[in-house]
Amino acid sequence: MNLNYDNISFMNKLTELSNKINQRLLSYISIEEVPEKTVIEAMKYSVEAGGKRIRPVLSLAVCEMLNGSESDVIPYACALEMIHTYSLIHDDLPAMDNDDYRRGRLTSHKVFGEAIAILAGDALLNKAYEIMLEDISNTGDMEKVMAKVRATAIVAEAAGSKGMIAGQVVDMESEEKHIDIDTLRYMHKCKTGALIKASILLSTELLNADAFVKEKLTIYSERIGLAFQIKDDILDVESSLEELGKPTGSDENNKKATYVTIYGLEEAKKLLNKVTEDAIDSLEAVEGSYRNTDFLKQVALFICNRRK
Ligand code: IPE
Ligand code: IPE
Ligand code: MG
Ligand code: MG
Ligand code: MG
Repeated sequence: MNLNYDNISFMNKLTELSNKINQRLLSYISIEEVPEKTVIEAMKYSVEAGGKRIRPVLSLAVCEMLNGSESDVIPYACALEMIHTYSLIHDDLPAMDNDDYRRGRLTSHKVFGEAIAILAGDALLNKAYEIMLEDISNTGDMEKVMAKVRATAIVAEAAGSKGMIAGQVVDMESEEKHIDIDTLRYMHKCKTGALIKASILLSTELLNADAFVKEKLTIYSERIGLAFQIKDDILDVESSLEELGKPTGSDENNKKATYVTIYGLEEAKKLLNKVTEDAIDSLEAVEGSYRNTDFLKQVALFICNRRK
């Protein structure tokens, strides 16, 4: 498998989908002249800073693959991106990774102070549920309502104490420690894998995908989720603040346990290539005359070869 990544039509599609997400995301946050204006500004600051939008793009890509209607998926995709953005604001706080840059800008606590950064994260988390529940309350068809409730539950569970938060806890409690490989995998599965998996499963749930497709996409999502964090660990060692938009060497400074510290850089790269190939393989069985998995395969390659 050629893991060299160079595909203009893929990049155009990625931009097209992330533009849709950006537009909708910003429509959810409007600055008002209210006493709590600062927290709204802080929410907007982190959301409009950009980011790859890989999670909501995955939701839309699965929707397209299943010939679903984008309007059914986009509120949930945006909600998930808001939760991801909140997790980054909190991850950068002095009590956690203590980083000064994110998405090419000063981190939220550097601009607004720690209290407002914590509250902006909390507010984005709550906004996410507001968006999903409002969409549910505007839906008439009972079957669709139930699918939307299940999609919301998928997001809640992935973001919660058995998902992303569990991973963050293991990450923090593993600082300055040598952890075993099972613990490392568990940490990555939760802290990064959970939201990536949810981005795909929320779409299969909303669009009522059959059990076979769900099963294969679950495997794909678990593999790209792991690949995503292995690559993140590698970039922390190999990239630069200018290219990445966030500090490198953060893991070393915090004495984090990562794929690079446990396996070494070269082995981590081999594992990344292997898990990327496996992710692509898991889509083979889904491919059919009316289903095109090309874009999802390209996303796996993008995750493996990205430079930020
Ligand atoms: C960074 O996620 C945090 C991890 C889970 C590794 P992304 O690399 O998706 O960050 P943005 O959204 O593009 O800024
Ligand atoms: C954080 O992992 C994952 C989250 C849940 C936010 P990292 O701490 O490695 O993410 P970066 O490198 O700061 O983006
Ligand atoms: Mg962290
Ligand atoms: Mg961090
Ligand atoms: Mg990192």
